[in-house]
Amino acid sequence: MQPKKAEVISTIEIVFPEDSNHFHSLFGGRMLAWMDKASYYAAFRFAGTPAVTASVESLDFTHSPKVGDVLDITARVIHTGRSSMVIRVDVYCQDVAHKKEKVLSNTGYFNFVALTEEGKPFEIPPLLIETDEERRLFKIGAMVKQQANERRAKHS
Ligand SMILES: CC(C)(COP(=O)(O)OP(=O)(O)OC[C@H]1O[C@@H](n2cnc3c(N)ncnc32)[C@H](O)[C@@H]1OP(=O)(O)O)[C@@H](O)C(=O)NCCC(=O)NCCS
Repeated sequence: MQPKKAEVISTIEIVFPEDSNHFHSLFGGRMLAWMDKASYYAAFRFAGTPAVTASVESLDFTHSPKVGDVLDITARVIHTGRSSMVIRVDVYCQDVAHKKEKVLSNTGYFNFVALTEEGKPFEIPPLLIETDEERRLFKIGAMVKQQANERRAKHS
């Protein structure tokens, strides 16, 4: 199969009151859902077939978005296996009410598996790596995938 370039998927969310917790900042579970959704579309665009979240390898919260903040969410496939993809998601947050600069709020790694119509793992193209940045991300993705494999082996 021919190697394929990954697209960068971008989406925007605005933190509304119903997305917040009792600290008036964004509820973490909502952030996870938004990141998972962006990952899903990045996986679909790469695989050309629906995929499922197999695991979330890590999700760091480095900033606390507040109600009214605008979130810029980008997702891209950074590593591929036979049917699996590691998606990196970065979230930048902007306090638009106070005209602040964007800050990095979250980074997460999501493992997706492409599926056939029968729900079986589906073979995907290998990821095309052309730039130093893509090579750097591919190495991170390989570590993420290895962690997932080791964790599965330990817990099974
Ligand atoms: C993910 C799933 C398709 C894997 O099916 P499986 O029969 O265990 O698949 P296999 O063991 O043959 O592995 C297939 C691929 O999935 C990967 N994989 C399976 N479980 C994984 C996990 N927990 N984390 C990361 N990768 C995983 C394997 O490494 C393998 O990758 P490769 O093809 O690139 O080598 C299956 O467990 C599933 O459908 N889970 C439910 C997913 C779901 O509903 N998600 C939404 C939750 S709300």
